[in-house]
Amino acid sequence: MLAARRMVRRYRADPVPPEVVERIARVVHRAPSAGFSQGHRLLVVTGPAARARIAECAEEFRYETAWISAAPVHMVIGVREDDYHDRYTRPDKLEDGREMEWPAPYWWVDSGAFLMLVQLAAIDAGLATGFATVPRKDELRALVGIPDDVAVVGVVTLGYPAEDAVRPADTARLRSMRRPLDDLVRYESW
Ligand SMILES: Cc1cc2nc3c(=O)[nH]c(=O)nc-3n(C[C@H](O)[C@H](O)[C@H](O)COP(=O)(O)O)c2cc1C
Repeated sequence: MLAARRMVRRYRADPVPPEVVERIARVVHRAPSAGFSQGHRLLVVTGPAARARIAECAEEFRYETAWISAAPVHMVIGVREDDYHDRYTRPDKLEDGREMEWPAPYWWVDSGAFLMLVQLAAIDAGLATGFATVPRKDELRALVGIPDDVAVVGVVTLGYPAEDAVRPADTARLRSMRRPLDDLVRYESW
């Protein structure tokens, strides 16, 4: 099942029942986060006019089809970096009395894990999802009122997959581009 996971850019027009959206929300509520900082934020948008505006912020015109606005549910993913600094300046996380040197910006690490958990929770609920980065972030912020201390990661699009949701030609193209498994995975030593 998960081996067949794909980003889907073709959805049926059918709305997604609110209880299905809530089920996904309950799953991602349990997303992992560094130090349990819980910097994730999720904004669910279903109104067609707002989705059309979000699609503009994501520069949908660059794609072959209007797949972003067509998805019946948008989940805007945000992350609040300050939650990480707040958490890692608590006594149990201090190193020599100071906030640690970040090995990587964990708020972005967690955002990737969160994005994937949204996708997997949606698949588990019978939906398909895509992901679009948002070049016009400030426009999106103003549109839906995202506060200044929350960074926009992107938009997950959700809906029931169209019959031709994953076209064989696209799959063949990806297969031809995919790195060999041996390039990705090594065992015991590099
Ligand atoms: C961080 C991230 C950003 C992405 N941005 C976009 C995007 O802006 N537009 C898009 O159509 N797909 C986007 N994708 C989806 C990738 O293009 C997709 O995962 C990749 O082509 C492999 O296809 P698959 O996930 O269906 O196997 C993004 C994926 C990730 C993880």
